[in-house]
Amino acid sequence: MPFTIPAIPDDVLSTIHSPSMIVFANRVRDNIDHLIQVAGNVERLRPHCKTHKMAAVIGLLMERGILKHKAATIAEVEMLVDAGAMDVVLAYNLVGPNIDRVVTLLEKHSQLKLAVTADHPVPLLQLSAALASRGLTVGVMLDIDVGQHRTGVAADSALALELCQQITELPGVTFAGFHVYDGHQHQESLSERTAAVASEWPAVLELKQKCSAAGIAVPEILCGGSPTFPVYAEMDEPAITLSPGTSIFHDSGYGGHFPDLDFQPAAVVITRVISRPTSDRVTLDLGNKAVAADPPKGQRVHFPLLPDAVQVIHNEEHLVLETNSAADFQPGDVLLGIPTHICPTSALHQSVTVIEDEKIVDCWEVTARNRRITI
Ligand SMILES: Cc1ncc(COP(=O)(O)O)c(C=O)c1O
Repeated sequence: MPFTIPAIPDDVLSTIHSPSMIVFANRVRDNIDHLIQVAGNVERLRPHCKTHKMAAVIGLLMERGILKHKAATIAEVEMLVDAGAMDVVLAYNLVGPNIDRVVTLLEKHSQLKLAVTADHPVPLLQLSAALASRGLTVGVMLDIDVGQHRTGVAADSALALELCQQITELPGVTFAGFHVYDGHQHQESLSERTAAVASEWPAVLELKQKCSAAGIAVPEILCGGSPTFPVYAEMDEPAITLSPGTSIFHDSGYGGHFPDLDFQPAAVVITRVISRPTSDRVTLDLGNKAVAADPPKGQRVHFPLLPDAVQVIHNEEHLVLETNSAADFQPGDVLLGIPTHICPTSALHQSVTVIEDEKIVDCWEVTARNRRITI
């Protein structure tokens, strides 16, 4: 893996607690600039904040003129609004008490332009009734299933057009467009991903045409994550917006799997050796409560200085490596690792140490790691 981690002088490293997370602010800025370059302009970007959950990162996006944002939780929307974001898509289907939470959110933040997603008439009716009774309105995007089969309705189903009509007619909701997330497109080569997107796209366009024939304008088609946003960025469809998340920090999972994604790892974990239990083992304080454990066991973090070490045990507070270089390490030694999956890793940390030009310049809170903030 060609990844490098920016240098941090020993006297700085020695002051940073382990396990914890470090963010390189200049790399975040570079990744944001590259997002804009790939998207073509800032208007087309609606980055997903679930990767970092930090108001400070929203500040960097806004500095670069990115004013549209995407979220997966109500707490993330609160974090966004507190950071000054006023145009947010909460790409999550609301059910149960979350409907009332969104009512409260809109009552609290009257300037917020919010859209949510929906794929079923029952919660849509409940949402409409709850908002209309308070004189409030929220945008609703039709959640389209283009093959991941996680949420959404097929674009060519009768229900898809019926839901668009229903959203247009119900009080308390306005039609905000389509949500087209394709997390199943994990082909390694860009040309294969491009072909896969091309095969799913005609049904989306056909639904847009049916909407138009029914007098329903589709103001936004929110597409893709990091692996496919470069593909949608090439399309000549003015309603398209793009929602990469991971690219802002990048990680070793995407870096290893998608060679075309030209981003740099901007967030790492710092860990220390706490034991050398056998001649070929090094035990680190980097358990699965400090680095995400959703990648397969043995592949949860990449250490550029120990690329061949085998991750043999991963417990809550321990990561045991087997390596021929074990004798080179002793308790207290520091290692920096690039998480395989950065998004759930961020959520494991209360705050991150921010490094710029080899110095600690700040500490950023991971505000929206909490499920509930005030609402
Ligand atoms: C709905 C939705 N949109 C966008 C993204 C961002 O994708 P990525 O992290 O691949 O950039 C995700 C990731 O989980 C997602 O679930």
